[in-house]
Amino acid sequence: MTQLSRRNFLKLTGSSAAVGTLSLAPIAHAQQGSPPLPPGSTTLPYPRELVTKLSELAINQPIYFSYPDDRSPCVVIRRGREVKGGVGPEKDVVAYSTQCTHMGCPVTYDQEAEAFKCPCHYSIFDPDNTGQMVIGQATENLPRVILEYDDTEDALVAVSIDGLIYGRQANII
Ligand code: FES
Repeated sequence: MTQLSRRNFLKLTGSSAAVGTLSLAPIAHAQQGSPPLPPGSTTLPYPRELVTKLSELAINQPIYFSYPDDRSPCVVIRRGREVKGGVGPEKDVVAYSTQCTHMGCPVTYDQEAEAFKCPCHYSIFDPDNTGQMVIGQATENLPRVILEYDDTEDALVAVSIDGLIYGRQANII
């Protein structure tokens, strides 16, 4: 049986390291060449999905749906007055992910308080101010579903999300 001398061992490990460096170099270069994506962004396209007809949306009555896939629960609300980021003729329709940004519990819309409440650790989010976290354990706002209103069809269409859905590294996976 042949024994490796110290010199030959070092030669081998040295050349292995060189091969490793060569094979990783293009990856390192590619990473340096493209700026890092902000959290929640993706190079994949968001789907355009009908949420509901505006005429089916009563003021302050939430309708729940999923976007951008079945594992991402969301809610749309017509506020009855113009709000930040609102769409539609009155700019009063907004939509959000219903997964709390603290630990992912499902937030519910409290019609009396006109706010989203998380039952797990009592975070509260403001539907009239782009899902802003008002109080509680969460530190991030609720991700906002970006809507478009098609007046020819009276349709509210989800087109993307602003903010990272809880538990994901990118919204589209
Ligand atoms: S999971 Fe919502 S406050 Fe903790």
